[in-house]
Amino acid sequence: MDALTYAGNLENLKDIENAPNYIFEKGDIANEERTAELFARYAFDAVLHFAAESHVDRSIYDPLAFVRANVMGTAVLLNACREYWGKQLKDKLFYHVSTDEVYGSLGSEGLFTERTPYDPRSPYSASKAASDHFVMAYYHTYGLPVIMSNCSNNYGSHHFPEKLIPLMINNIRNNKPLPVYGRGENIRDWLWVEDHVRAIDLIFHRGRIGEKYNIGGLNEWKNIDLVRLLCRIMDKKLNRPEGTSAKLIAYVADRPGHDLRYAIDATKLKNELGWTPSLDFEEGLERTVDWYLNNEDWVNRVTSGAYQQYYEQQYLKR
Ligand code: DAU
Repeated sequence: MDALTYAGNLENLKDIENAPNYIFEKGDIANEERTAELFARYAFDAVLHFAAESHVDRSIYDPLAFVRANVMGTAVLLNACREYWGKQLKDKLFYHVSTDEVYGSLGSEGLFTERTPYDPRSPYSASKAASDHFVMAYYHTYGLPVIMSNCSNNYGSHHFPEKLIPLMINNIRNNKPLPVYGRGENIRDWLWVEDHVRAIDLIFHRGRIGEKYNIGGLNEWKNIDLVRLLCRIMDKKLNRPEGTSAKLIAYVADRPGHDLRYAIDATKLKNELGWTPSLDFEEGLERTVDWYLNNEDWVNRVTSGAYQQYYEQQYLKR
């Protein structure tokens, strides 16, 4: 079930289009009637809840869209489970996919663990924190079987080019300025999206009810170092003299409330379920760059129309 808003795209699901256990339903999780209708039609025994407005910069312009999708949407889904499952809770599961941003911002030391107090600082992270609280409230109050995971920054194929890595790849390809916020000193912990999905699969099948699990890459990068690495990879792939793409780097006004550093301690997941990240970062970035260079049509389609408007508002009118 997906509302197919600006970042949703059925082309991303082409690989599984004909799978016998796959059905697509267009719908908004914040719409109670539509959600109830789908519960009645399919008698779900599990919900894997990925749906969210996810871009911090957009949440600064339009916070209420985030409250609606992330807070209301999650509450509607939880409530549909409560109403539809009633007391028949054996073998049922509500799995909530969340983010490390709920923990706020780290200084130069320390890692987020599952016990780190919540301290969200953007409308996006506040909306995800609120959704996490609703999930635990339904567990404690109604005994709904829930599990959640909080993951660090993802990268890989099909990533919407509003996010740092695909945006930079696309701009380098088109010789456009590379907008680095502030001084580029902020640090993120990057994880290959397929390692995230593998973790979700494991936790979904073998995680403990009522628990949360942190997922992270053990892979911290300063933004500016990451952008410089991408420039080097792109110079190689595009046969440009070394140093060409880095000339496009442009420092721009910082993101308001910009969290300095995220870093995840994923020891619980490793100890309980044996998960560790599988892919070396530089290799993962090369694969990602190759995917974007081989899928120019996809990039061109998703960056036409509404994307242009967003880009102008975010980068050209500041
Ligand atoms: O940590 C998990 C989170 O990672 C997810 O919950 C979010 O949905 C996801 O968007 C991501 O949040 P970030 O804000 O860290 O990702 P983003 O790609 O927007 O930015 C990564 C870093 O790069 C951040 O420090 C801001 C900086 N940045 C970003 C953009 C888009 C720039 O310097 N320039 C840019 O143009």
